Amino acid sequence: MAQVTKNKKVLTWVNDMAKLCQPDNVYWCDGSQTEYNRICNQLVKSGTFIKLNPKLRPNSYLARSNPKDVARVEARTFICCQHEVDAGPTNHWADPKKMKATLTKLMHGCMRGRTMYVIPFSMGPLGSHIAQIGIEITDSPYVVANMRIMTRMGAKVWPVLKNGDFVKCFHSVGAPLKKGQQDVAWPCNPDNTYITHFPETREIISFGSGYGGNALLGKKCLALRIASTMARDEGWLAEHMLIAGFENKKQGLKAYVAAAFPSACGKTNMAMLIPPKAMSDWKVTTVGDDIAWIKPDKNGVLHAINPEAGFFGVAPGTNPETNKNAIEACRANTIFTNVALTDDGDVWWEGLTKQPPKHLIDWQGNDWTPKSKTPAAHPNSRFTAPAKQCPCIDKNWENPAGVPIAAFVFGGRLATNTPLVYQSFNWQHGVYLASTMGSEQTAAAEGKMGEIRRDPFAMLPFCGYNMADYWRHWLDMGGKITKHPLIFRVNWFRKDKKGKFMWPGFGDNMRVIEWIVKRCANQAGAHETVCGLSPSYHDMTWKGLAMTEKQFDALMAVDKDLAEEDVANQAAYYEQFLKFNKLPMVFDAELVLLEDRLMRG
Ligand code: OXD
Ligand code: MN
Repeated sequence: MAQVTKNKKVLTWVNDMAKLCQPDNVYWCDGSQTEYNRICNQLVKSGTFIKLNPKLRPNSYLARSNPKDVARVEARTFICCQHEVDAGPTNHWADPKKMKATLTKLMHGCMRGRTMYVIPFSMGPLGSHIAQIGIEITDSPYVVANMRIMTRMGAKVWPVLKNGDFVKCFHSVGAPLKKGQQDVAWPCNPDNTYITHFPETREIISFGSGYGGNALLGKKCLALRIASTMARDEGWLAEHMLIAGFENKKQGLKAYVAAAFPSACGKTNMAMLIPPKAMSDWKVTTVGDDIAWIKPDKNGVLHAINPEAGFFGVAPGTNPETNKNAIEACRANTIFTNVALTDDGDVWWEGLTKQPPKHLIDWQGNDWTPKSKTPAAHPNSRFTAPAKQCPCIDKNWENPAGVPIAAFVFGGRLATNTPLVYQSFNWQHGVYLASTMGSEQTAAAEGKMGEIRRDPFAMLPFCGYNMADYWRHWLDMGGKITKHPLIFRVNWFRKDKKGKFMWPGFGDNMRVIEWIVKRCANQAGAHETVCGLSPSYHDMTWKGLAMTEKQFDALMAVDKDLAEEDVANQAAYYEQFLKFNKLPMVFDAELVLLEDRLMRG
């Protein structure tokens, strides 16, 4: 038995939950390798895990979920605060008392026949002043194994927590077992799924799903939805951003950049980017690939930590050309979920190799050949891999003080009329730009793929309070810092009239990032356009890429009529925030200024 805390709040809560949920046992996780191995072996025995060929993929496993439990469920995600207005129009609001009553009924006896695991974990390096402690109670050993990779978890947390407060993270797959009932490989309860957040009391209750962000509660629920409310109250930022370092020793340039992209839009790829050969004097290092917690230091300079300890990366499309570092990171000690199994006991997913293997077992356990009509791996299949295995991990990735942020980058997945890159005129304009971000829907969440939706700051599914208050918080932060990171918009996904991508993306994004880093060092040119400050063809490095000035101009072009339409769309989007006077007035001013530039231009 692991060292158990003397923290009364922990003991009382665990006791209360055990009484309510009636598990067969309560197990306190110690976070050791022995414990991890034991849990993985148990998952193999129960059929949840398939052990992969240890020669090809040492100490790694494949899990296949229930086909009804494959992504975050935004429609079942709730912010439960006293007043609906505090959740805002972009969140599903529920009255905390009523929601607790509903959940308590569901939780009654929900762990019968199962073990209740208690997972103490730290989001962020243990003891960092930016880190937070959570405790997840779960009846899913799959969650325990993943949490050990994704967070700093186990007995080492207790001496840091002492008698302090923590975020209560309750999770149940919602599938109690009757006496003698045989369990299934992926227990869940899709008809009764609730992912609920109580920001005022810093609590999370997740019921019915065992997948990803629905169940690994340190990630989206704590590190974004609850942390964003903590950040608002305490004067910092909790963001859906990668953090990466870009260094060119020859040119004496080094900058850490935090970049927000919606789910499955290439954050992991940008965080681990390998520059093209012609730009090999650039070195890229990874601090984080999904979430950034950012605080001003005592001099008012924003510093960021990655609260996570692992990557929960989207597998399809990842290969040695698109992201060699991610491929290396999941070479061993990795949990794969919903990818395909090869005949020699390794994993495969669409895009891993040019030629698919002749035969596979697909993510649902069926035989698969290249002639099959369905994908071998689910589009939202994932790898859970320890961050320290990433070959380009930054030497400061566990620095409790974080790394200084020189630039914020915001990018969506947009096929038309959004230029490759431009810089905001100033902080306020940058906040406005990020608030209007749009992107095509991906497989990371349930919903219709490809549909464009506004995803402000890439936080639409993750902001734990009223989005307009969040914008105001960002504007206010501008007044609290001494050194303002420059703000940029990028779009790697523009297509031509024939539907072909106009920009190669991946490693070649380094060309855009070089311009960004040079702008931060005052070493690159820019000119004013209707959008902001934009590079000319000659401001960027083209060595090693056949990109003509004409092609570049097409990538940067803005169709005025479409832009006018977008201004009207933005105004319509903002309307929902006008209720209760939440919308920052300065956004109206930004729209007027943009219209004016469009008229003049
Ligand atoms: C993720 C997501 O899993 O954003 O990171 O959905
Ligand atoms: Mn994400």
